[in-house]
Amino acid sequence: MCGIVAYIGPREAYPILIKGLQRLEYRGYDSAGLVIANGGLNMYKTKGKVSDLVEYVKDQKTSGSIGIAHTRWATHGEPNQTNAHPHYSQSRKLAIIHNGIIENYSSLKEELIHRGYEFHSDTDTEVLVNLIEDIQTNEKVSLEEAVRIALNQVIGAYAIAILSVDSPDTIVAARKGSPLVIGIGKDDYFLASDATPIIEYTKNVVYLEDEEVAVLKRNEELKIRNIKNKELTPYIQELEWNLHELEKGGYEHFMMKEIYEQPRSIRDSMRGRLHAQEGTISLGGIIDYEQKLLHARRVIIIACGTSWHAGLVGEYLFEDIARVTVEVEYASEFRYRNPIIDEDDVVIAISQSGETADTLAAIELAKQRGATILGICNVVGSSIPRATHAGIYTHAGPEIGVASTKAFTAQVTILTLMALRLAELKGNIPKSRFMHLLAELENLPNHIEKSLNNRGIIQEIAKRFQDVSNFLYLGRGYNFPVALEGALKLKEISYIHAEGYPAAEMKHGPIALIDENMPVVFIAPKKGIYEKVVSNIQEVKARNGKIIAIVTEGDEHIKKIADYVIEIPETEEFLIPMLASIPLQKLAYHVAILRGCNVDQPRNLAKSVTVE
Ligand code: AGP
Ligand code: GLU
Repeated sequence: MCGIVAYIGPREAYPILIKGLQRLEYRGYDSAGLVIANGGLNMYKTKGKVSDLVEYVKDQKTSGSIGIAHTRWATHGEPNQTNAHPHYSQSRKLAIIHNGIIENYSSLKEELIHRGYEFHSDTDTEVLVNLIEDIQTNEKVSLEEAVRIALNQVIGAYAIAILSVDSPDTIVAARKGSPLVIGIGKDDYFLASDATPIIEYTKNVVYLEDEEVAVLKRNEELKIRNIKNKELTPYIQELEWNLHELEKGGYEHFMMKEIYEQPRSIRDSMRGRLHAQEGTISLGGIIDYEQKLLHARRVIIIACGTSWHAGLVGEYLFEDIARVTVEVEYASEFRYRNPIIDEDDVVIAISQSGETADTLAAIELAKQRGATILGICNVVGSSIPRATHAGIYTHAGPEIGVASTKAFTAQVTILTLMALRLAELKGNIPKSRFMHLLAELENLPNHIEKSLNNRGIIQEIAKRFQDVSNFLYLGRGYNFPVALEGALKLKEISYIHAEGYPAAEMKHGPIALIDENMPVVFIAPKKGIYEKVVSNIQEVKARNGKIIAIVTEGDEHIKKIADYVIEIPETEEFLIPMLASIPLQKLAYHVAILRGCNVDQPRNLAKSVTVE
């Protein structure tokens, strides 16, 4: 889901493309490549950084005034040179770059193989370019028309740009779900995933909308149609942001950008897996291991930090929804504990980076003892997915802020899908209830979008408590891990000491800390053992603690007791961890900002901890 740059005009394309890719580097990626059309389609691509691409292309033929370039964040197939973009079609007459995920790529691929197509990469993208070629050859239509027809058959998310040997003065581009901006110069066009590669050439841009196909043709006006073939008038806007603002999507920090990306990243995690209308879930990555998981003697989740918190939510999900028992272990403890584990056990390793040293070592140990290892990772082709027997990628996109936000909710999304899939296999939830749960899950990103708007109150809370030395976070059941994660976020980026605790355990110790200076964050939705949590709130109140409560919209009861309430929309209990953790991410962010901390790169922390 990373970067696209394209150019057509009177200038040399190569330097513009390279500079553009460099501008998009902040988005994170694993390989890079480009095609310059000049007679034929000259393609160069490599694993690694844009600087590796420059090194690789040195002394090669790069002249030409039309080209497309890409930085890849692998979703299908490991990051290597073959899977890097662009991809040729079978005849090599077309070349494509693509950001996003084609959900139905495997059925399309099977059909194309039937029709004689051969595939060289593991990507979903190569399927799309061959589908376009197939349509063009069979139906004898223009490139634009073939793209339009193909996109009607595609389910998923895409931002694409295509070059054709037969239309040497044209770039066809389209988007759905993944962003794409067209820059309109004096006599040239630029295309990019965001405006950062474009801004130094022109301020006039057109933001392509979902399901729109644009034709960028030399010396001709920009043409846009939607995939239903309706002609549209391009809406030209003037760019207002500077380069720095553009990189962060208008947010001041990557962390906030990533917090706000969560409706999208959760949708991406569910893409092609949740079929709410049909009432089914498909998890292709672990399909061969589903029975093993269902009948495992023990299921053990191993992870570190935030991923471990996601694992704890997983424990509640598996037990509650699928009636499968789960233990959750810190990878660093598990690996040195001489654990009792054998071939009847399934270990699920969770990691954003896929490189965490302790998690990797724990996997190796469990593997040696014969257990089946499944992974839940964000970075495709990283060490952990390679070390596991099978797994599911979270597809949250690159996470740049050191404090994990969208990766956490994506991990919980995958665990939710797994729990529901196990329940589906077991048939232990009545069909109508099961359908309802899937529909609620599908609707979750909408709820998140809604709750992301309560900025005012969170900033007010942050202001009130920015100078305290301690915070307590309390929750019960599904929301106990949310309390832990909320406290970790605050610690990591604001350097305020914070403890997460099961609310009822408070009276066995932490209650001694409570006085009028202690803010206590309760995760107290109107679900589960609500009344018991209200009693815990009263216990804090009686000792003059300051109460901040995350409550279900319209909860008048807690409003009367608490000093501050943050409302979240009403939903099923099993979805509350995702919904409730987002205001806590924002609270940590605002407190940290007020204290002048570097939220994207907090002191002493690394994005991936590759040492034990
Ligand atoms: C998250 O905010 C932390 N920076 C950290 O706890 C992190 O979750 C942990 O290091 C595990 O990383 P992983 O998910 O990449 O394995
Ligand atoms: N799904 C494509 C791939 O894995 C595109 C990934 C991207 O968005 O960079 O190659």
